[in-house]
Amino acid sequence: MLTEMTTDPARRPGHSDVLVGLQYGDEGKAKIIDLIAPDYDVVARFNGGANAGHTIDTPAGRVVLQQVPSAVFHPGCELYIGSGCVLNLVKLRDELALLRTVGVDLADRLRISDRCAVVQPVHFLLDQRTGAAIGTTGNGIGPCYADRAARTRDGVRCNLQLRDLLEDPEGTAALMLAAVERELKEEADAGERLAAERERIAAMRESAEALRPMVTTDRTHLARRVADGARVLFEGAQSLMLDVVQGDQPYVTSSHTLPGHAYVGGDLPPRYHRHTIGVAKAVVSRVGHGPFPSELGAERSAAYFAEACRTGRGRTEEQAEHDPQQLLGSADPLDVGTALRMLTGEYGSGTGRPRRIGLLDLEQLREQVTLHGVDVVYLNKTDCLAHYRDSHYGGVPVQLAAAAPGEPGSERIEVLPVFDAEQVRAAVAGLPGLDGVPASMLAFKEYVEQRIGAPVIGLGLGPERDCTAEFARPGTLPAGLPAALPAARQAGG
Ligand code: IMP
Repeated sequence: MLTEMTTDPARRPGHSDVLVGLQYGDEGKAKIIDLIAPDYDVVARFNGGANAGHTIDTPAGRVVLQQVPSAVFHPGCELYIGSGCVLNLVKLRDELALLRTVGVDLADRLRISDRCAVVQPVHFLLDQRTGAAIGTTGNGIGPCYADRAARTRDGVRCNLQLRDLLEDPEGTAALMLAAVERELKEEADAGERLAAERERIAAMRESAEALRPMVTTDRTHLARRVADGARVLFEGAQSLMLDVVQGDQPYVTSSHTLPGHAYVGGDLPPRYHRHTIGVAKAVVSRVGHGPFPSELGAERSAAYFAEACRTGRGRTEEQAEHDPQQLLGSADPLDVGTALRMLTGEYGSGTGRPRRIGLLDLEQLREQVTLHGVDVVYLNKTDCLAHYRDSHYGGVPVQLAAAAPGEPGSERIEVLPVFDAEQVRAAVAGLPGLDGVPASMLAFKEYVEQRIGAPVIGLGLGPERDCTAEFARPGTLPAGLPAALPAARQAGG
C-alpha cells in the first residue's frame, strides 16, 4: 500500500532519469525498463497513449501492455500516468484486468493524473478516416491531441479530461456524443453507428468509475515524492524520430516524445533531472510511412510496406514465400532487409504488419544524442547483427551519413567485422558478467561510442531481460556526465 508522502525537510531529495527511444519506436525500451526498474521508486509515463505497446510473456500467460508503465512486475515500483498522456479508458481498465489474471494487482500501485485527456469516440472515428495516409495506429491519438490544443470547437469544449468525466459524467458524456454525432450525420448508417457510440460512451463512463480510486487530483504528487527522496524513471513512449516537431511531418505521432518534455507531461519540476538514457537497436525498424535514411531497399521497401498495409500482407505470407537464408545472400538490399525482418521477427506485435528495416544509422544517433543531451545508451538486438555474416556485405554495415537524393549512398556505409555468433551465444549463457562477451563485440561497442558521442552501457543480446550485457548502470555514473567520451569528439565531426 502506498502511503501519502509529506515533505520531510530532513530527507535528501531524490532524482529522476528519463528513458527514450532514439529511433522510430520498438527499440526494446520496456526490456531495459524491466532491467533497471529495481533502481527506482516510481516509473512514470509522460506522453502518448494506447499507440504504444509491448508484449510480455509471463509464466501465467501473455500480456500486452499499452498504457500502464512497463515496471508492472516490480512490486516495489509505483506507476504513474502523467497529465501529458491521453487515455483510452476502456483499454486501460482491460489492461488492469488482464494483469490481475497473471497475479498483478495495481490497485494500490498505479496513480493517474486527472488532467489526462480522454480519447473520445469522435477521435477514433477521425483517426480511422484520415490516419491511413500517415500509417497511424488508429487509436485516435492525433485527433485527441488536436482537440487538446483546440480547447473548443464552435464555442463548445472539445478537450475533455479525466477529471471532467469524473466530476460531471452526464454532461461530459453528452459532449462526447454530440461531437461524434456531428461527424456521423452525413453517413448512411448514422443511426446504427450512433447506437454503437452510445454504448462505447457508456463503457467509458463505467471504466472511469472503475479507475476512480487510482486517479489523483494532487498535481504536486510526484514533486513531493521526489522532494522526499523518491527516484523516478520516466518512460518515453514512441521515440525521438516520431516527435511531433522534431520528426518529419506529417509522419510523426502527435505528442512530444523528447526527454525535456518528461518534465511537462510527467508533472515534475526539471530541477530533479539526473540522466537521459537512450535506447536504440542495431537492426533499425520503422512502422508507418515517412523518411528512413538507412532503409534497406530505400523507396522500394517503403512502397512494399505501403502495399502490405493496403492488402494486409504480413508475416504469414512472407514465411510462405521466402527462404530468408537465400534472400540474405542476394546483392539487392531489399532482399537483405526482407531476410533480416524474417530472421529477427520485425513484425507489428498487434497487426503482424512487416516493419521497414534499415541499417544502424550512427549519424542519426549522433545527432539525437547531441540534440537531447543523451548521457548513456543501451543498444538492443546486437545479436541480430551476426546475420550479416551471410550477406554480401560480409560484415556489419553501418550508416555514417544520409545518402543524398539520387545517390546510391554506398560510400557512406562502413562495414565492420561481424561478431562470431557462437561466441555471442556463449556470452549470453555466461551472463551476468562480461567475461563471455567477444572482443569483436567490444570493439564494435567502442566504435559506436566514438561515432555517436555517448557511452554504450548495455548491449542487448536477446529478447529476455537477462540477455543484456551491462557495462554500467545509469546511477553508477557521475551526475552531470558530459555526453561525449573523449575520443568521440574526433570521430563525430
Ligand atoms: P499515431 O501515434 O497512432 O498517431 O501514429 C503516428 C505514427 O507513429 C505512425 O507512423 C505510427 O506507426 C507511429 N507509432 C505510434 N506509436 C508507435 C510505437 O509505439 N512504436 C512505433 N511506431 C509508433
